[in-house]
Amino acid sequence: MNVCGKRILVGITGSIAAYKSITLVRLLVKAGAEVKVVMTPAAAEFASPLVLATLSKHPVLLSLATGADWANHVALGRWAHAMVIAPASANSVAKMATGLCDNLLLAVYLSATCPVMICPAMDEDMWLHPSTQANLLRLKGFGNKVLDVETGELASGLFGPGRMAEPEEILSALNELLAKRAILAGKKALVTAGPTYEPIDPVRFIGNHSSGKMGIEIAAALAAAGADVTLVLGPVDLQPPVGVQVIKVTTAQEMYDAAMACFPHCQLTVMAAAVADYRPAVVAAEKIKKATNVSGEDMLTINLVRNPDILKACGQMKQDHQLLVGFALETNNEEENALKKLQEKNADFMVLNSLRDADSGFGTDTNQVTIYSKHLPAQRWPLQQKKALAGQLVEMLALHLPNVAID
Ligand code: CTP
Repeated sequence: MNVCGKRILVGITGSIAAYKSITLVRLLVKAGAEVKVVMTPAAAEFASPLVLATLSKHPVLLSLATGADWANHVALGRWAHAMVIAPASANSVAKMATGLCDNLLLAVYLSATCPVMICPAMDEDMWLHPSTQANLLRLKGFGNKVLDVETGELASGLFGPGRMAEPEEILSALNELLAKRAILAGKKALVTAGPTYEPIDPVRFIGNHSSGKMGIEIAAALAAAGADVTLVLGPVDLQPPVGVQVIKVTTAQEMYDAAMACFPHCQLTVMAAAVADYRPAVVAAEKIKKATNVSGEDMLTINLVRNPDILKACGQMKQDHQLLVGFALETNNEEENALKKLQEKNADFMVLNSLRDADSGFGTDTNQVTIYSKHLPAQRWPLQQKKALAGQLVEMLALHLPNVAID
């Protein structure tokens, strides 16, 4: 897959290298991409918005509001198949790394759900400064692709690293990024995410603290890799990713029914949901009132019955061409429990989360996991953003799907 037919957002920040962005836009349009340009106010000093608008055939976006019109940064971030920020100045890199958004380009970057490629350009000393290097490392950790600078003559007259990559090289890196992202094109994937709520009466339920973040990021990463994704999502407040078919459910039984209908058609299934293992045997038709029981005690007993185990049911139905992945959230005997679940549920991979690891588990933006499989040694992955982890997981799973090659 390459940029042909793709919607590409070119972000230009204030750097002398902005003159090369004109060539980049021209190359992208020539290659068949639909291009929109968003610039920081400083960038407009280096490259003419009129030239860029003419080449891209779209008005150049410079500020959040023009007269009575408001540029919808969220819509722009979701419009694009890929965003390339070229040149990315040291100042914009620092702002992106910390989540600042005091201009339209930064707001679009923050809302972008597509892959983002960052092409830095700056003087040697700024490039080599530890804060710049730390910011770029952080941006890579968020799942962005950072294109290396080239060594050569710089605007200051110095000779060293800091030159933005040439437009031809940016185009080929973008083609590569999009091709890599399409490793699951033509594959169907199923993801379960979030908690389930098991009603006790019309106002109460049994639930858990799952936020659904990890599963939602996995669904987004699968979709970004070109898969046709169905996300069976428990009751959460988070927005599901775009480009994913979402089936909203509340109870474990509803999640089971939705997953069972979808599973036979999927080559790849990831069950990240925190399913309630039990539900009340009887759901009271009316709100349960406080009362003392027959023994005169101020106690309430709720009888629970087992919910279906969705992962185990899928494991029993699994065919050779299907890959099945489960999550195990543990507080103790982590490895033993994860391996037991891998075996008993007939999964191909089990992703272990331990609540003993700091910054991991429910509600956090980061996660630390260990991957178990029947045939490979366990792999402990570093603590990272859930988005980056989802990307790494999808790349690894794609390698284990039959007939999928990664270039
Ligand atoms: N799972 C499921 N259906 C259930 C329970 C769990 O599909 N009724 C799946 C989860 O989505 C996860 C894996 O099984 O992928 C392990 O879930 P976990 O809650 O860690 O384990 P349980 O099997 O419920 O075992 P226990 O609660 O005893 O640790």
